[in-house]
Amino acid sequence: MDIYQLVADYIQFWRTYFPEGIQLTREKANQRVGTPYLRRLLTSAQLRQLQDSIAPIYGAWALEGYQLSFMKALLLHLATTTTGGTLLSLGSGPASLELFLLLTNLVDSVILVDISDAMLRRALSIASQLGLSDRVKVICGDVTTVTLPIADKTISIGAMHWSTSWQKWIEKAAESTKPGGLVFLEASMNFAQSGITREEFLGVAARSLNVTGSGFLLPLIEGLRAADLVCFYAAGLKRPKTIKEKPTKQKKKR
Ligand SMILES: C[S@@+](CC[C@H](N)C(=O)[O-])C[C@H]1O[C@@H](n2cnc3c(N)ncnc32)[C@H](O)[C@@H]1O
Repeated sequence: MDIYQLVADYIQFWRTYFPEGIQLTREKANQRVGTPYLRRLLTSAQLRQLQDSIAPIYGAWALEGYQLSFMKALLLHLATTTTGGTLLSLGSGPASLELFLLLTNLVDSVILVDISDAMLRRALSIASQLGLSDRVKVICGDVTTVTLPIADKTISIGAMHWSTSWQKWIEKAAESTKPGGLVFLEASMNFAQSGITREEFLGVAARSLNVTGSGFLLPLIEGLRAADLVCFYAAGLKRPKTIKEKPTKQKKKR
């Protein structure tokens, strides 16, 4: 796997299918959607509405630098597993990372889960332009309540910090992955909706995964301080189920 070439190709892919970033600054994108999410808890309906409004300007709102650092870290971990299989993505948004992995045949099919219908519609529209529709399935709903299929690899990037039940995302990611399959999880720390800390995140991940890599992802973007969004990730292979041994019956002493 030539990671340098893949990253360079991903930049082109991002600029082609998410061109808003070229026309609109992040500041303008934030003004369009409003920024209540930075200060207070949103209800499920408010969250869905906010994400629906972000979907058409995702390329300006999400920032190329962040997507690139996610893609780099993800590729480094994918390189340690076999290519192909099904990839499940929790909180996929418009699926820039997943569709690129599909296009480059690093995975065979993707299942996208998101609470926002507009995000999934955008993903499906890009998939159709790329001739990938028959390899993409979508599930619209809340990750914490929908029934998830079993996949070879599971990712959740830039999403679980929107949820007050973020721990459940990690548990469901592990449950939905085949034993030995790769799980890659990323979240923003100290976000208003969840207040996840690095220690808590790693602790929950370590209960379900043999963590093989973790750390901060610090994209260097002009005008943004690293402290604006502190991203932490953990990746590893799903732990095989341990079979509980039956306690041996002790003979009663006479
Ligand atoms: C910032 S976007 C990240 C999208 C994508 N993973 C990426 O890296 O470009 C966060 C996504 O999580 C979704 N999301 C937030 N809470 C969710 C929930 N409880 N269930 C499903 N999706 C959720 C949002 O609708 C949004 O599309």
